[in-house]
Amino acid sequence: MDFTNRVAIVTGGANGIGRAVCLGFVARGGKVAIVDRDAEAGAALAAEIGKDRAIFRAADVTRAAEVQAYVEATLDAFGGIDCFHNNAGIEGRIANIVDYDEAIYDAVMGVNVKGVFLGLKYVLPAMIKAGRGSVVNTASVAGLVGTPGMSAYTASKHAVNGLTKVACGEVGPLGIRVNAVCPGPIATRMVQEIARQVSPNNPDAVEAGYSAAIPLRRFGQAEEVANLVLFLLSDLASNITGGQYTVDGGRTAVPSAGMSQSSLR
Ligand SMILES: NC(=O)c1ccc[n+]([C@@H]2O[C@H](COP(=O)([O-])OP(=O)(O)OC[C@H]3O[C@@H](n4cnc5c(N)ncnc54)[C@H](O)[C@@H]3O)[C@@H](O)[C@H]2O)c1
Repeated sequence: MDFTNRVAIVTGGANGIGRAVCLGFVARGGKVAIVDRDAEAGAALAAEIGKDRAIFRAADVTRAAEVQAYVEATLDAFGGIDCFHNNAGIEGRIANIVDYDEAIYDAVMGVNVKGVFLGLKYVLPAMIKAGRGSVVNTASVAGLVGTPGMSAYTASKHAVNGLTKVACGEVGPLGIRVNAVCPGPIATRMVQEIARQVSPNNPDAVEAGYSAAIPLRRFGQAEEVANLVLFLLSDLASNITGGQYTVDGGRTAVPSAGMSQSSLR
């Protein structure tokens, strides 16, 4: 994977998976526009990478004017947009549908669906003008299967996979690829927060339970998701578009924990 002379925008780039993608893209020769509402972490990452190779733009991805501004800032700084990791997302609350707070539902759909839609709406024109580009939207295994207690998140990530397919059809003929990645539990703030909500007194037990249902028996690391994202952004994936790719340690291949190795012995 070589991103020399390539420019990427990464939303949610200040932390977790997005941060790993920023670092991986730059390590392979590219330049990156880090977009995040976390100004402190975003500015720190841009400073760590250096101003020749990174800019940080504070933005809320749910606000069209701020999305347009991060696109313009990237074009001003680097002159083009080759790659887009449309990644910012929030988890919402853990509660059954009958108890789910309507305002939190709207907030989750706002960031995870409208934010992804607005990113596509305002980044794609620059790629269309250039006649090439690659986009990776961050969905989730919750975009493939139901996750009880996470209605808004699950609906939002199914929507991300839907938007991915629509965008693939619209811009494929113009030389632009659009894919989605579907991570399982990844060791970032988000999964720690979900475990804390499920069991405030014993989040470690929740995380152990999640791990036990994963064939590889562990959470993924942000860098392992970044490896897939970077591949899909790169020219190595030149015939790949419209797909949704799991990076989940086998979680969705084995819906229940099933017969454990020890019980088979
Ligand atoms: N961690 C997991 O287990 C997991 C699994 C599947 C999918 N995902 C998805 O991966 C993506 C990244 O999550 P993560 O695990 O790195 O979590 P994270 O919380 O570490 O990172 C998310 C980033 O998005 C930013 N963000 C949130 N709302 C924003 C907004 N409105 N505008 C701009 N920035 C905003 C946050 O400030 C943060 O930097 C999300 O879309 C998430 O749903 C995560």
